[in-house]
Amino acid sequence: MVPLLDLTRQYQELKPELDAAVLSLLASGQYVLGPAVEEFENTAAKSLGVQHAIGVANGTDALQLSLQALGVGDGDEVITAPFTFIATAEVVSQLGAKPVFCDISADTFNIDPAQIEAAITPQTKAIVPVHLFGHPAPMNEINEIARRHGLPVLTDAAQSWGAALEVDGKMQSCGAMGDIASFSFFPSKNLGACGEGGLVTTGDAELAEKVRMLRVHGQRRRYIHDEIGYNSRLHSLQAAILNVKLPHAKRWNDARRANAARYAEMLSDLPIELPVEREGAHHVYHQYTLRSSNREPICEALTKAEVGWAIYYPMCLHLQPVFENLGYREGQFPVAETAAREVLSLPIFPELRADELEEAAAAVRAGCETAA
Ligand SMILES: Cc1ncc(COP(=O)(O)O)c(C=O)c1O
Repeated sequence: MVPLLDLTRQYQELKPELDAAVLSLLASGQYVLGPAVEEFENTAAKSLGVQHAIGVANGTDALQLSLQALGVGDGDEVITAPFTFIATAEVVSQLGAKPVFCDISADTFNIDPAQIEAAITPQTKAIVPVHLFGHPAPMNEINEIARRHGLPVLTDAAQSWGAALEVDGKMQSCGAMGDIASFSFFPSKNLGACGEGGLVTTGDAELAEKVRMLRVHGQRRRYIHDEIGYNSRLHSLQAAILNVKLPHAKRWNDARRANAARYAEMLSDLPIELPVEREGAHHVYHQYTLRSSNREPICEALTKAEVGWAIYYPMCLHLQPVFENLGYREGQFPVAETAAREVLSLPIFPELRADELEEAAAAVRAGCETAA
């Protein structure tokens, strides 16, 4: 059996340090914010090359608090991609605003900047590109459009800890591009907690201060509340765990990249499309997502060989029942809709063994042969 993801391997690798960190946190009695969270915020900011990092309860809250800090609210519009996890658009609706979708690029699955401008209206309040599957969104083009229209950019970096892109001639991390960025530390992410966790990063001191205030019930001074906020602090136990894990994140991303390179060697002669790395992009392969216009036999071959696989995502957001009220219809975003029919993700986690990867690749080959 080859798992799509096995989190126990990472735990076993770091067991002594993780156990010690958790026990030490328990003994400290500082369970809400405190030194573990501060340490994580400081090292995360340094590692990402950003001025401010604010730990929050999860990646969904990281998005929502960021949008609220940008002033998004009732009647506003926020432009994003329809091919992403629901959270990206869900938070827009939670704030009383309207998600406005535009189509993606077929090669990276990221928002297509050429589609953004036509979606901008006087109600547009922000643009939210997602660095999907660990490949950075085309931020040079997006930032240029945003600057021209005076719009802020929130990047959803939930899937791309450690990814980077050449921006204005310099490599920048996915948390450092745009006005504000959000991360998730859901256990399956490239940097994952042992539970829920999230982070907001920004170079803007005012936005940082606002997010800090929002995560503690809109309070700046104790028990004085300036705004309706949230209880959304990064849990101290999760911060202690992340403090142990963060120094290993680069090595894990390198292992993901090595796995991707091995898949490419083994699968490039098949009639399927493999993930691409655009020039200037440092892809960290949160997912290894291939596409096939006839994926069913490949899925069947993987299941038969007991190799884990998944489809991220089977239904675009504009066609989700929850967004019926937005009035989108099938056929409106053909690139995203085709992607939803063709994508298939293989095991890529850093601890995946060479023999397991070869089994997965062999099953894909067998599936392609059945399909031919
Ligand atoms: C693209 C994207 N955005 C947002 C989220 C939300 O993160 P969380 O599950 O930590 O709330 C996730 C992950 O689950 C995600 O993949």
